[in-house]
Amino acid sequence: MRVLVTGERGFVGSYLVKYLKESSDEVFGFGSVDLRDQEKTEEVVIRVKPEVIYHLGGISFVPDAERNFKETLDVNVLGTEHIAKACSKLSHPPTFVLASSGEVYGKVKTVPISEETRPKPANNYSLSKLFAEEVVRKKSREGIVRGVILRLFNHIGPGQREDFVVANFTAQLKSGRKEMKVGNLSAKRDFSDVRDVVRAYRLAAEQGSGTYNIGSGESYSIQEILDKLIQISAREIEVVQDPSRMRGPEVPEIKADIAKAKRDLGWNPEFSIDETLSFVWG
Ligand code: GDD
Repeated sequence: MRVLVTGERGFVGSYLVKYLKESSDEVFGFGSVDLRDQEKTEEVVIRVKPEVIYHLGGISFVPDAERNFKETLDVNVLGTEHIAKACSKLSHPPTFVLASSGEVYGKVKTVPISEETRPKPANNYSLSKLFAEEVVRKKSREGIVRGVILRLFNHIGPGQREDFVVANFTAQLKSGRKEMKVGNLSAKRDFSDVRDVVRAYRLAAEQGSGTYNIGSGESYSIQEILDKLIQISAREIEVVQDPSRMRGPEVPEIKADIAKAKRDLGWNPEFSIDETLSFVWG
């Protein structure tokens, strides 16, 4: 397969590129092209003539999107439109796999969350992801791409930006400082392993159509995750709540229903939370 990956130098992108190459795909990236630049984006799509596009590039840290909604819309929504629109110049509509987010569901009342749940974005980041999904759905209806949408829940592994919770706690524990700063520890989130996630991407491109939740199907409180990391580190540390890390009202529990991905894609997460946290620790 000739495949084009956006965000190929990012955390998940670099694992995905490695996995696709191991699976004998011919992999191309966007390099330093800014997705906001419509002309340059189109040039790459036309030059590569991909059979599959994995669109991972964009703003992925929720607080970044809160601080700058315009830039988030430009990158996450218009960037998606630029790539998808360029596909109208190809002789055959490529499969377009969009990295969306479990965040689109917003403040859900019941878990696990299935794809049937109506999205109710609760922040700028999830709004931008839902708009990006709509762009892909529209281009699919127009026959320009064959869209597949992955709603990814939290995923972790070595190399993730230290702003994200597990990477951040790991870095603090490794720093040797006696005290570590944390935000809201009561929220429960669904964490999966980046190695499981990249398999889901390729299976989705091969066999998927429509929208899939990609998560572990389990949830852990941030407190439980912190306790596990402290145990792995074998360090004694004082945990201090830092008000600047609190995000205001948060969804108390997020847990994905992954039955559809299991059924349609034959995908199953293979790594337990303990194996994944050990992988992160290194
Ligand atoms: N970052 C951070 N730092 N988060 C903390 C901290 C801290 O010190 N303490 C507690 N938390 C809590 C946050 O309040 C949040 O409830 C949870 O840990 C996870 O935060 P993040 O790792 O920043 O991820 P996220 O849930 O906001 O977003 C991630 O998951 C989405 C899918 O569910 C990102 O990977 C998104 O790109 C992704 O779409």
